[in-house]
Amino acid sequence: MDYLKRLCVILLAGTVLVSLVGCTMQGNANMNIEKRLFGKTDQADVVHIYTLTNANGCEVKITNYGGIVVSLKVPDKTGKLGDVVLGYETLDKYIEKSPYFGALIGRYGNRIGKGKFTLDGRVYTLAVNNGENHLHGGIVGFDKAVWNAKEIKQPDAVGLELTYLSGDGEEGYPGNLSVTVRYLWTDDNELKIDYTATTDRLTIVNLTNHSYFNLAGKGDILGHELMIDADRFTPVDEGLIPTGELRSVAETPMDFRKPMTIGARIEQDDEQLKFGLGYDHNWVLNRYDGSLRRVARVCESTTGRIVEVYTTEPGLQFYSGNFLDGTITGKCGAVYQQRYGLCLETQHFPDSPNKPDFPSTLLKPGERYTSTTIYKFTTQ
Ligand code: GLA
Repeated sequence: MDYLKRLCVILLAGTVLVSLVGCTMQGNANMNIEKRLFGKTDQADVVHIYTLTNANGCEVKITNYGGIVVSLKVPDKTGKLGDVVLGYETLDKYIEKSPYFGALIGRYGNRIGKGKFTLDGRVYTLAVNNGENHLHGGIVGFDKAVWNAKEIKQPDAVGLELTYLSGDGEEGYPGNLSVTVRYLWTDDNELKIDYTATTDRLTIVNLTNHSYFNLAGKGDILGHELMIDADRFTPVDEGLIPTGELRSVAETPMDFRKPMTIGARIEQDDEQLKFGLGYDHNWVLNRYDGSLRRVARVCESTTGRIVEVYTTEPGLQFYSGNFLDGTITGKCGAVYQQRYGLCLETQHFPDSPNKPDFPSTLLKPGERYTSTTIYKFTTQ
C-alpha cells in the first residue's frame, strides 16, 4: 500500500512537472513575429503589418505606415482574448481618413497656437490643420509616414524598431530630425514604447501614440473607471490651446485622483468640458522628474480588463473620443459613435513652444530626445 501511495505521488509530481515544462515551452513557442504585406501607399511605398505574439499568446498588430497599432488582443477576467483598440482592417482605410487611430504622432503631439513659434529670434510657421492651430504634426505628420522597420526578438519580448528621417522644413519644422521608435510587446502584456530623436538644428519635439482604447471591445467608454495621478491640469481656450495656467483639479470634473467613471461628470455644466465637448485636456502629472512612474489606470468592470500607463513624460492628454460621430466604420463592421474610445497620450504640454513656464520641448544638435511610455494590461 505504502509502495502504491509513493508511486502515485511520484506519478503525480511527474505529471505536474511535465505540464509545467510543457506550459513554459509552449509559452516560448507562442512567441512570434509574423510579417505580412498590408498594401501600398499612393506613392507606391510598400507597407507591412507585423503580428507580435508574446509567450501568453497575446498579440499586437503594428504597421510601419504611421507606426499604427492596428489591434491589441488581451484577455478578460475569464481568459478570453479581445481587441481593445479602435482601428481598421485595411491600409486603404487608414490612408483615406483616420482620426489618428493608433498612430505615432510627431513632430509635435497636440496643438501649437496659430501654428507659430519662435526659436533664436526667428519665427517658424507650421502647417495649420485644426481651426487656426497646428495639431499632431501637421497635414502630413508622422502618422502618415512610411517608417523603416526592423524586427526585435528578446527572451521576454517581441518588438519592432521603427525609424524615420523627417527632413529640414517638413511641415514647417526646422532641422533634419532622425527619429527611432521601439515598440516592445513583453510577456507581462506590456506595450512599451521608447522614443528617441536627434537633430542637426535647434528644433522642437513632442512624440506620442494616439491609440483609442476600449477595454470592453465594444460600446462607449463612459463606464470605464479612470484614475490620473495629477493634482493639476492645463485649462484651455475655445481652440483647446492652454491659457498658461496650471489649475488645481480639486472640486472640478477633472479630478481623477480617486478612480471615477468617465461618464460620471462628463455632461456637467463646466466651461472646460464645453470647450472639449467632453474630456480633451492635458493633465499635469505628479512627480515629474524624467523617470518612469505610474500615472494612470483604467478599469472596465464587466470584462475586468485594466490598463495602467507608465511614462517619463510630464503630461497626459486624456481625450474621451468626443469627435467620433458614427461616420466611421472600423474593424468587424463596428460603427464608432461618440465616446467609443479613449486616448491617453503621454506628452509634454500643448503649446509648450509658446509657454516659457511649461517644461521645455526644445532639442539641440548633439542632444538626444528620449521618452518612454508603457501600457500594461492586466485583469481583476
Ligand atoms: C487629440 C486632440 C483632439 C482630437 C483628436 C483627434 O486627442 O486633442 O482634440 O483632435 O486628437 O480627433
